[in-house]
Formats: sequence, C-alpha cells, structure tokens
Amino acid sequence: MWRPPERIRYSSSAGRLPSAAEAAASRLFSPIDIGPVRLAQRTWVPAMVPWRATEEGYVTEEVIEWYERFARGMPGAIVLEATGIRDVPSGPLLRIGHDRFLPGLRRLVETVRRASEGRTRLLIQLIDFLAVRRRPEPKKFFERFLVVTDAHRAALGVPNLSDAEVRARLSALSEDELARVLTAAEWHALQFGYRERVTDMQHPHIRNLPQVLPGLFADAAVRAEAAGFDGVELHYAHAYTMSSFLSRTNTRSDGYGGSLDNRVRLPLEVFAAIRSRVPKNFAVGVRFLADECIEGGSRVEDASYFAVQFARAGVDFISLSRGGKFDDAKQPSIGAAAYPYTGRSGYECMPQFISDQRGPFGRNAEPSAAIRKAVHEAGSLVPVVCTGGIHNFEMAEDYLARGVCDIVGAARQSLADPDWFRKILLGHGGDVRLCEYTNYCEGLDQKHKPVTCQLWDKLPSTAGERRTPDGKRRLTAPLWQPPQ
Ligand SMILES: Cc1cc2nc3c(=O)[nH]c(=O)nc-3n(C[C@H](O)[C@H](O)[C@H](O)COP(=O)(O)O)c2cc1C
Ligand code: SF4
Repeated sequence: MWRPPERIRYSSSAGRLPSAAEAAASRLFSPIDIGPVRLAQRTWVPAMVPWRATEEGYVTEEVIEWYERFARGMPGAIVLEATGIRDVPSGPLLRIGHDRFLPGLRRLVETVRRASEGRTRLLIQLIDFLAVRRRPEPKKFFERFLVVTDAHRAALGVPNLSDAEVRARLSALSEDELARVLTAAEWHALQFGYRERVTDMQHPHIRNLPQVLPGLFADAAVRAEAAGFDGVELHYAHAYTMSSFLSRTNTRSDGYGGSLDNRVRLPLEVFAAIRSRVPKNFAVGVRFLADECIEGGSRVEDASYFAVQFARAGVDFISLSRGGKFDDAKQPSIGAAAYPYTGRSGYECMPQFISDQRGPFGRNAEPSAAIRKAVHEAGSLVPVVCTGGIHNFEMAEDYLARGVCDIVGAARQSLADPDWFRKILLGHGGDVRLCEYTNYCEGLDQKHKPVTCQLWDKLPSTAGERRTPDGKRRLTAPLWQPPQ
C-alpha cells in the first residue's frame, strides 16, 4: 500500500475511559432512528469483506461465525459485507442475485439476532461492480486480447498488414513506441489489466447500466427483506459501478454523466426503484465517498450536493467513506489484478499508522462535518455515519458532540476487538484491544485470503477454536466475558 512520504508513526490510544454510568448517559450509547429502524446505540460496524463465502457466493459456517462474533459485541448496527446483486460468478464474495442464496442469509440474520440478544440491527451492503482482469503477459495480450484496428496499421505505417502481422510487429515494439501506437485504453489494459469503465459506451452492457441496475438492486433489496435484514446499504463508494457514476471522471453523454445532476441520476433512480418495492419498515441507506481523493475526482462539494439530493429523496442514512479508487492503484504484477486500495486514495480509505502530519485517525471527520452541515442546511436531519480511524470512546463522543456525524462507524477497531463498544458500555474500557492500524488485515483482503487480525494470535489459544486451513491463524476474535 502507498504510504505518505513523511512516514510519521502514530499509536492508537484508549483515550479517556468513562465509568459505566457515564457511558450509559453518553451520546454514543443513546438510541437513534435510521428511518423506520431504531438503533439501540450509535455504534456501527461498517461493511468488511472477510473472504469466507463459497466460490459460488453462498454463506458458509465461517461466514456465520464471523458475524456471530461481531454480534456478541452488541453494536447498534452491523453492515454485512459487500454482497453481489447479480447472478454471475464472482469468486468467494457473498451473493444475493437469486432466491437460492436466501436460506444461508436467513440463517445469518437469525444468528446475529440471537448472539446480540436482539440488540443489533443488521443491514446488508448491496454492490455492483464491473469486470477487472489480471495484468496479462505482453505476449498473450498481443496474441489474444488486443482487437486489431486500422489505427494500428496506420500507426505502424503499413496499411495492408494482416491481423497476425500487426500482432507480431506490435509485440516487437519498445514500451515508448507502444505508448505512441496503442490507444490509452489499450496501453492501460497492457500495463494494468483490462478494466471496464462506466464510460465504455461502445459496449451495450455498459451503455445499458441505467436501464438494468435499478431492477437488479431492487430485486436484491426485496430478497434482503425476505431474508429478515433490517435494511440495505447501497454501495455507492470506492471503486465500484455506482461510485463511478457519481465520480467527476464520469463523462457519459447519455444524461448519466457530466453535471452533478446527471451523475447522481442513476444512484437516485436505484434508490427510488428499491423504495417502491420494499415495505416502509425496511431501511434503505447509501454509502458514498466524502472525497474520492484522486486527481480530477469528486470532492467534498460534490459529496455535499449528492448528500442533499439523497436526503431529499428520503434515504434513511448516509454513510461516508473516502478514497479507495482504481484510478491511482499501483501497477499489479503480471498475472495479478489491480487492487483499488494500493494508491494514495487507498491510503485515505484505510489509513495506516505510518502517516503524515494529519495522522491516520481523523481524516474523514471534517469532510463528514461539512457534508452533514450541508444536509442540515437543506432542512434534513438524516443520520450521517462517519468512519475512518475511530478507535476510542473519547474520539467517538467528540465526533457526536461536534456534529461530525450522528453514528460512529469503526471497521478495523471492531475487527481487532468486536467487544470494544460493549466493554466501554460496561465500564471495562481498559480491557479494549486497540487496533494498531498496521493493515495486516487489509493485506489479507487484497490477496482474497480469509481476513483475520494479527492481535488475535498474540493471545493464548483455547480449545475448539476454528483456524485457517494452515492452522496458523484464528478465524474469529477470542471470546470475552464481562468480569463477574
Ligand atoms: C478487510 C476489510 C474489508 C472491507 N470491506 C469493505 C466492504 O465490503 N465495503 C465497504 O464499503 N468498505 C469495506 N471496507 C472499508 C471499511 O468499511 C472502512 O471504511 C475502512 O476500513 C476505514 O474505516 P476504519 O478506519 O474504521 O477501519 C473494508 C475494510 C477492511 C479492513
Ligand atoms: S490486523 Fe488487526 S490491528 Fe492490524 S489493522 Fe487490522 S484490525 Fe487493526
């Protein structure tokens, strides 16, 4: 992962610890409504893909145990990992694109209800993504993937070459010559692996996204409701389809790109399609970027505009992340696919303990405050969830007091210690296992390996724990019981 050149090291801290009485009276542990759904407290575990589904996208025992463990910490809400809305193979990513996925998802919902004693509300994050291919061997690229055109013949200066001759000549060119001969998209496909973009209007399936996605998202949301979830979070963040529609880099000319209104059109149409198909007591919220953190990308002003449009449309919550884009991802090695969390924008999404003057802990706070203010000024009080580097009570309470957000999201801190909210609430804040923001977990995510926290394995093992196939890592956090 990219790291700021300043390389300043930071440590997380427990902050000021409240007594149980103080915690019980705090903002963090007070209830809040996300539309029709009441959260018992303002604590939120954002979506995290743990790479535990089957290759066909089904819930496994490991998936169940992963969420059961979070539920034992009894946060206000858990958002289930990004779950694919289409019925297409997507590797070990959970899927909800067909009714056959429902029994597993139902079991998951029941498990979370039971383990949290009914105190945690469960949402599912719905995602659509476009194709991303591995970086090819140059030889293979020229032999098999490149579509030969007359532009190549013209650039080579020989109009009558056969396709095979064009391929052979191109593969003999130097990098500099190739940069001149290939189009930007071809050059990128050679260097990084082919990646579809929402602006690839020459492909009917991309051109038709605005016609197809509202129905696909709505079908998935209807299934989520049938499985017993309390609501859905629409994944409009990071490197995926809907975020690409919101991006300033979206130059589509069909009314779904260019101006702010055009870029937010499809995200609003998807929301409207869902709202018209799910009951009133089912929450529908959106997660998007406070800032894309890329050159030429959307900034806080764009996000504030989108937030106001979403609020006016009636979303039940707004969850803010930042960065995590393909645009500045590192070049993958040959045979690997680009990963959107390897560049500067990736750092902004999951900042690590080696940082710059601003440090890793509050990078999303001021943008969230500005977006929430814009929403309030537009006359809406829709709750805003802020996530990014939050790991102690003092910080969480400060965010709520200062109006940065209404709900506090903590991803890696909840991974490090799924009981951390509960420990604080019960007056055992000193026992919280603090995330060190090393991003060991994120490295596993990048390799699509089962995500675990390195701190779990520093504790003595106990009987009956499920471990990774090599036996080296615990698959869930060690259990915790409040001291008697
Ligand atoms: C292992 C891992 C998987 C993640 N998967 C998702 C995901 O499925 N959807 C999503 O919106 N964000 C995902 N994220 C980003 C987190 O939700 C969160 O925004 C980010 O980690 C920053 O918050 P934190 O500093 O509290 O960890 C993931 C993060 C991690 C560490
Ligand atoms: S591995 Fe554990 S300590 Fe390290 S960043 Fe991930 S959750 Fe935090």
